[in-house]
Amino acid sequence: MVNEEWDKMTAPEYLKFTRKWIGACHKALKDNGSIYISCTYHNIAEVMIVLKQFDFKINNILVWQKTNAMPNMTKRVFTHSTEFVVWAVKGKKWIFNYGELKKINPETQKDGSLKQMRDVWAMPLVQGKERLRGKDGKALHPTQKPEEMLKRIIVASSNKGDLVLDPFLGSGTTAVVAKKLGRNWIGIEKTKSMLKQHKDDFKELVYKLYDLTPEEIAIVEGKISYSEVHLI
Ligand SMILES: C[S@@+](CC[C@H](N)C(=O)[O-])C[C@H]1O[C@@H](n2cnc3c(N)ncnc32)[C@H](O)[C@@H]1O
Repeated sequence: MVNEEWDKMTAPEYLKFTRKWIGACHKALKDNGSIYISCTYHNIAEVMIVLKQFDFKINNILVWQKTNAMPNMTKRVFTHSTEFVVWAVKGKKWIFNYGELKKINPETQKDGSLKQMRDVWAMPLVQGKERLRGKDGKALHPTQKPEEMLKRIIVASSNKGDLVLDPFLGSGTTAVVAKKLGRNWIGIEKTKSMLKQHKDDFKELVYKLYDLTPEEIAIVEGKISYSEVHLI
C-alpha cells in the first residue's frame, strides 16, 4: 500500500474491494490456473481470508527481501524490508515448472549445480535503467515491480502461448515480461497516467490513449502488435 489515490480505503471498503476483484479473477481463471497477489503487511490478512473464502489453495507465500530497502525514519519499528506474493491455485493440477525455475535460479549449490528455487527472493527495488522515469526524472510509478520477480512467477506457473492477466497493470511490468517469455497477456489499469511508453527493450510498446474518463478501466490487449496496443 502506498499513499496514492487508488490506495485509500477504509478497512471494510478494502475487504469488500478485495472480495470483488478476487471473485472476478476466480471466475476468469481456468481450472488449474494460478493467481499471484502482491501484498504488504498492510493487506495480506484480507487477501488470505478472501482467497480461502473462494476455496483457493494457497501454495506459497513468497517473500521479497528488498536488498536496498529504505531506512526507517520513525525509529519505532523494525525497518520494513519485505513484501509478499501469495501464490494460490484454483484446482489440483496447477502448473509448476520446477526444472525451469532451477535453471533461472541465481542461487546454486556449493558445487555450482542447479538449486531448487526457494520462497525467499532477494532482489532490489527497481532502480537504474529498469526504473521508468518521466522527463522530470521522477519515477513514473510508485510501485514498479522488478522484472526478475515477474519472470519467476510467469515461468513458474505458465507455458509459452498461455494467457496472463494482470488486473492492476501499473507501469506494465507483467505485460513486458509476459511478452519476452512468449506468453499472451491482458492488462487492466484504471489510471491513465500510469500507462506510459516503456523505455527499455520495449520502445515499440506504445500505449495509445483514447478518451477515457478517470473512472473507465483501460484494458490493454497484448496479443496484437506492439505498435498498436488497444485500450477499450
Ligand atoms: C501496485 S500497483 C501495480 C504495479 C505494477 N505491478 C507495476 O509493476 O508497475 C497497482 C495499480 O493498480 C491500479 N488500480 C488501482 N485500482 C484499480 C482498479 N480498480 N482497476 C484497475 N486498476 C486499478 C493503480 O492505478 C496502480 O497502477
